[in-house]
Parts: sequence; structure tokens; C-alpha cells
Amino acid sequence: MQKLAMAASSAALIALAGPLLAEPQAEVLHWWTAGGEAKAVGVLQEEFAEQGGTWTDMPVAGGGGDAAMTALRARVLSGNAPTAVQLKGPAIQEWYEEGVLADISDVAEAEGWADVLPASIAGHMKCDGQWCAAPVNVHRVDWIWANADVLDANGIEMPTTWDEFNAAAEKLQEAGVIPLAHGGQAWQDATIFEVVALGMLGPDGFEKAFVELDPDTLTSPEMVAVFDQMAKMRGYVDENAPGRDWNLATAMVMNGEAAFQIMGDWAKGEFLAAGKVPGEDFLCESAPGEGYLYNVDSFAMFEVDGEDKKAGQELLAKLIVGPNFQKVFNLNKGSIPVRTDVPLDEFDSCANKSSEDMAAASDNGALLPSYAHGMALRGAQAGAITDVVTAHFNSDMSSDEAVQMLADAVANSM
Ligand code: GAL
Repeated sequence: MQKLAMAASSAALIALAGPLLAEPQAEVLHWWTAGGEAKAVGVLQEEFAEQGGTWTDMPVAGGGGDAAMTALRARVLSGNAPTAVQLKGPAIQEWYEEGVLADISDVAEAEGWADVLPASIAGHMKCDGQWCAAPVNVHRVDWIWANADVLDANGIEMPTTWDEFNAAAEKLQEAGVIPLAHGGQAWQDATIFEVVALGMLGPDGFEKAFVELDPDTLTSPEMVAVFDQMAKMRGYVDENAPGRDWNLATAMVMNGEAAFQIMGDWAKGEFLAAGKVPGEDFLCESAPGEGYLYNVDSFAMFEVDGEDKKAGQELLAKLIVGPNFQKVFNLNKGSIPVRTDVPLDEFDSCANKSSEDMAAASDNGALLPSYAHGMALRGAQAGAITDVVTAHFNSDMSSDEAVQMLADAVANSM
């Protein structure tokens, strides 16, 4: 009732203001179609409507957003860009360089974004000094999720080293449980790979390999060991994995068919949407090794005609970084607020751990951008790495061949 009344009163205000105030319109392209994701984006739709906005939804299913990015390119090429687009990391800069992004500095300045966002994250949202995207959240990628009962029944603790992980996986396999729930899609292979790489190379090695693209690190014995571990991981995955969506892999952990999943904390959004309780039904632990891999979702506004669409962009940008949305959205999405001034007391233990670990990692130089989720590299370089990772994961290619291919692919992508 209250919501309806608010919507009616803002609609009435808009009507009173007449032609001076355009009614906010937004066509929003995103890939949030799984249970927890859809609940979370629903929060934004609701707030937008309460403020008198009309939302046209353009969901493009496909975890990790590859399909969404293909759809975006087609729309921009045909001269009909969506109003707002889920876009992140260096891809924001790439689109800015094509001259198609709108400047949202007026909202950012009026709302004081610079005072409430960590500087490193604000940096991703700025293009040539102007604000070109609005950040939504911080997802952590390097998590292991587990079914609490399955671990208990098999006398297994959350692994703290990769050797412990391997020992647990072998024990589970003998007991007839699928050790690792996984979907054989390139971005999911890349997600496991970067988590293993962070754990085994350490934060400095990860940075050298996937931020600096240092050829010596890409072909180092440590990188060979990362591919060796990936070959082991492949053995822990069931034979129906190819093509499986990530949320169906999460469901396998929920229903006890599988023990673990290595995935960013959007997986927690799935557990929560299904009514599962952290610490009771499912466990979260940072993957073995030091460091924190961040993945910040954000929305960029595209250059569009029409006062109503521009009003929609302003309203969306304002809501996205607003404190209420930051709290309610992230409670559903599994991530933590990107604003530093949102209290976390309503958030669960996994979210609180994420926030504490992020602060510690930021202090000791171990806070790193996720390459698999488009935070570290431009599209061509990230794609070149993922092609090798997935080719190795899906064949009997040796680790030595893989590192050579990796270095070559990266060199050719520059
Ligand atoms: C990530 C994105 C998350 C989540 C996930 C699975 O790249 O940042 O918000 O949607 O893909 O779709």
C-alpha cells in the first residue's frame, strides 16, 4: 500500500510539474536472471518505479555476461544503445573510447560519490576524469562453498590448502559424492583457474601474471603447477558438467549431490534465495592462499536521445549508489556494498568476512582485480587467456604446453 501510495504521489508530482520534468524512462540491459540475481535486480526496478520511473527490462541470460556483451555490441552498432548497461572494469573504458557513454558527473558530484567510494573502485568508474559508471557492489571471487551436512557426514573440514582440498575431494569421490560442482562454460573454467592461480602464485605472482601479463610469470614453474592443479580439478567434476549453468552447479551443492563449488559470492545469493542458512546449511571459506579477488558490478549509461531517457539515467545512477539500495540489493545478491558508510550489521558472516578480508588485503597489497570477471584486463587479453584455460581444462594438454600456449596467446593479443 505504502509503495503504491508513494508511486502515485511521485507520479502526481511529475504530472503537476508538467513538461518541465520528463518522466524517467530506462531500458536496462543486464544478465541477472538466476534466482538471487533476479531478486536483487528486482530491488532496483522497484525503487525506480517508486520514484516514478518506467523500467524496460532487457535481460540477456548467461552467467558472466558473455551473451549480454554480444547483445550490447549489436545494439550499439545498430545505433540503438540501451539506456543503461551492466558493464564493468576495463570494458567501461573501452566503450568510453568508442564515444558512446554518457557523462554522469552531475549526479556523482551532487551525491558526493567521491566521499563514499574507495578510491581504487572510483577509478574504474571514471573515464578521462569524468564519471562514466555507477558502482553497485563488491563481489569476492575466491570463495569455496560447501554443503555442511556432506562435509560432516564424511568427516571433512573446510580445506585451507590445495593439498587438503585434493585429499578431501578424493575422499568424497570414494564415498560416491561429486567433489566439485562445476559448469563447463569458459567463464566458469576461468573462475576456478584464477582462484587456483591466486592461491598458488600468491598476490604478487597473480598481479604479475594477470595484470602485468609478465611473460616470465606466465611460463614459470609455478604456473605449470597451477595447470597441474587444474587437471586435478577436472577429475573432481562430474561428466555432465559441460554447458551446465553456474546456478545449477550451486543447486548440486544445496541438495547434497556435490560437496564444493568454487564461485564468486553471487552463489551465496542463490543459497539465500533458496532459504539456506550460512554456517548451518552451507559454508563459505576463502579459497586456500592469500589475497582477495574483487569483482565490482556497475552500470554505464549510454548516450541516448530524449529528456525522459536522460532523466531515467540520472535517477538510476542516483538510486544505485544510494545507501538504501546498496544495503537491500547486496543482501540479496551475496555481495557487499561498495559504499564505505553502509553498516553491515544486517549482513551475514560471509559478507562480514568479505568486508574484513577486503580491508586487510587492501592494506597489504593483496587486493586484486578478477581477470575472469573482467576487472583486470581488456577484452582481447582476458579472452586470450580464457581460451587457453578452457582448451587445457577440456583436453589432455600437458601443463608445459598450456603455459607456452598461454604466453603466445597473450603476446598475440596485444
Ligand atoms: C559476474 C557478475 C555477477 C554475477 C555473475 C554470474 O560476472 O559480476 O554479478 O552475475 O557474473 O552471472
